[in-house]
Amino acid sequence: MSIIRMTVGIVVRALPLTLAMTVTAFATVPARAQGLAVNASWIAPDRAAHRANVLPATTDAVKRGQQLFLRECEQCHGKAGHGDGPQASSLQPRPADLALERVQSQSDGALFWKITEGRGMMPRAALSESEKWAVIDYLRTLPAPR
Ligand code: HEC
Repeated sequence: MSIIRMTVGIVVRALPLTLAMTVTAFATVPARAQGLAVNASWIAPDRAAHRANVLPATTDAVKRGQQLFLRECEQCHGKAGHGDGPQASSLQPRPADLALERVQSQSDGALFWKITEGRGMMPRAALSESEKWAVIDYLRTLPAPR
């Protein structure tokens, strides 16, 4: 009788710990699955990627985009977008080099979506829709990395 009571007592006392461990295990999985791990791919959903840029890349739009880039993005992505801004070394993962083929091969819609959503250390841009399209028009003029 007393052995049964002891066993029940241990099980009851161990239950909260087991539950806590289970909850922790499940809570850590989504964080990794969200792509917070270095180099995890970040792909815009199809629908967002097909969205067309409504702002033609005129000289004025590109100039406006550059001003906005220097104000909102340069601190991380660097003056020429190579991912070497003053804050870059403190970020994990590092800010992307926006001149790379890997980035430039993405559609305007995909870049718009990423700038809108942000991920990890990459903030949601505090820009209007037309400002974001202007920044993208500017990104298209970045010289390829050497
Ligand atoms: C506080 C630093 C920071 C600022 C400010 C910032 N970014 Fe980023 N950006 C990052 C980091 C870090 C990543 C990599 C995120 C990842 O892969 O999880 C990134 C990724 C990106 C990507 C995705 C590249 C790819 O891999 O497909 C684009 C596009 C981008 N940034 C554009 C911009 C633009 C445009 C701005 C300004 C409106 C901006 N970022 C502002 C830090 C920043």
